[in-house]
Amino acid sequence: MRKKIIAANWKMNQTVADTESFLTDFRLEVEDVSGVDIVIAPPFTSLAKISELLGGSQKIRTAAQNMYYEASGAYTGEISAQMLRELYVKYVILGHSERRQIFGETDALINKKVIAAIESELKPILCVGETLAEREADRENEVLETQLRGSLAGVTAEQLAEIVIAYEPVWAIGTGKTASTQQAQDCHLHVRKVLAELSDAETADKVRIQYGGSVKPANAAELLAQPDIDGALVGGASLDPRGFAEIVKAGVTA
Ligand code: 13P
Repeated sequence: MRKKIIAANWKMNQTVADTESFLTDFRLEVEDVSGVDIVIAPPFTSLAKISELLGGSQKIRTAAQNMYYEASGAYTGEISAQMLRELYVKYVILGHSERRQIFGETDALINKKVIAAIESELKPILCVGETLAEREADRENEVLETQLRGSLAGVTAEQLAEIVIAYEPVWAIGTGKTASTQQAQDCHLHVRKVLAELSDAETADKVRIQYGGSVKPANAAELLAQPDIDGALVGGASLDPRGFAEIVKAGVTA
């Protein structure tokens, strides 16, 4: 049985003060929740505050939204895996479609980041997903396969088992359009098939695959009930502590 993993991707939202007030409310909401992994990916500027507020809590873990693959050096504006580890960060979102589309990240660059994260004992949440044009051309499976093979080159089966994949159809992000549960399940199954080809069936069966794209309290339970949907990567709806807590609770009961 794969434990569900529900993650908040705050993107470029929430100041340090907002983060503090969110955590105060959210922790009360999830006080009695167990059996699900809860992750929050705030902007870099809030990571230190979250670490300080959570102390050694295992209940809520933090993720960075990005990192660079080099350990240190003249890379203005970038953050390394070690810098994140110092703040007790456990996960790092890599290859988000906004990074791919707005900042031009390629599978080759994302692959370097995936390897660097693993080497520093950060768990990648690797995002993959097709655009609307690609779906309309029935190319989603091919696109997912290319992204997975490119981003995971050189990753061993043992390492793969620790990675989280987030399937995020680009056309469903921030648009209010969610993939139907069947569309999502079909793509998750395809992702697992490609992972099995990259490693073996037993390893692929261990990998948690999150769905992302307009997840909200009203649709979370149905998505999370699908056999190959092992969690959610939530953008807009994760900014509200009560709403995000409801999605987390849907992960417990799914
Ligand atoms: P929304 O939930 O706002 O559609 O964003 C999804 C996403 O990109 C999470 O990484």
